[in-house]
Amino acid sequence: MTKSVQDALKQENQVLVAAGVQCATRDLRLLMAFTLGVQPYQISLLLNNVLDPSQQAIFDQVCAKRAARVPMSHILGYRDFYEHRFIVTPDVLDPRPETEILVSLAFEEDFMTVLDLGTGSGCILLSLLANRRLSRGVGVDQSPKAISIAQRNAAKLHLSKQVDFFVSDWFSSVPITKFDLIVSNPPYIHPNAMADLSLEVLHEPEFALTDYSDGLSHYRQIAKSAHNFLAPNGRLLFEIGFDQGPAVSAILFDHQFRDITVLPDLDNCPRVVACRSSHQ
Ligand SMILES: C[S@@+](CC[C@H](N)C(=O)[O-])C[C@H]1O[C@@H](n2cnc3c(N)ncnc32)[C@H](O)[C@@H]1O
Repeated sequence: MTKSVQDALKQENQVLVAAGVQCATRDLRLLMAFTLGVQPYQISLLLNNVLDPSQQAIFDQVCAKRAARVPMSHILGYRDFYEHRFIVTPDVLDPRPETEILVSLAFEEDFMTVLDLGTGSGCILLSLLANRRLSRGVGVDQSPKAISIAQRNAAKLHLSKQVDFFVSDWFSSVPITKFDLIVSNPPYIHPNAMADLSLEVLHEPEFALTDYSDGLSHYRQIAKSAHNFLAPNGRLLFEIGFDQGPAVSAILFDHQFRDITVLPDLDNCPRVVACRSSHQ
């Protein structure tokens, strides 16, 4: 049976709401735009159009995935982060809006060289390099599949000449260099908190979310070696969980970092710990 765009949206809205999808109306608009190959803002102008059978089939398929709580980024194949669109697959963490604050804070001081530990899709590092076209970056990840997505994103954003990516267990394969800036959003979710996360998270790589320990083990590991890779006065910025500010600050203090500050995101939730190398 043929349906108008409006009727199809209405019908699927009930299905997605019943499946517990948080922002069903917004998601459906994006899924309809994806189906019709138009921009989301154009949907309001097309509400009375009738879907042809192939459009109906595509819309049914993408809505069924969303009702099964597949993340929007996996259905659409991308996520908009900071100022750019990044390729996202189930092999990498879906970039989160709260991570954008780390990028903004990184821009508060100049840097010519930047290292991103646990680069995933490359969203943090490539956002930084896209706005600093004379800077160079290194991104590492333990996952070869993540590195290949980060390389694809670098090529898509015309940044490949500014960046090198390596498969590496934190610093193990990082060339001995002193970076002006090190950024990292390591897996920090305590294993006990994994069950409280949304169903969408089940579609993401578990090793990108949790350290299978106490949520802090990667901070300890990185803090132990970071001085060897930081230029004098160089900065280290960590994304943290909302309740990890004091613990991560204590780890950095124990490793002689200075100017340790916990900074909030736009929801006023502690989100980043910034500090500086103690070597002047
Ligand atoms: C929370 S995700 C962050 C991804 C991306 N930077 C972002 O903010 O969207 C953490 C990343 O760290 C990587 N990772 C986990 N353990 C690692 C290790 N020992 N060495 C290097 N990377 C690691 C994971 O593969 C994952 O891509």
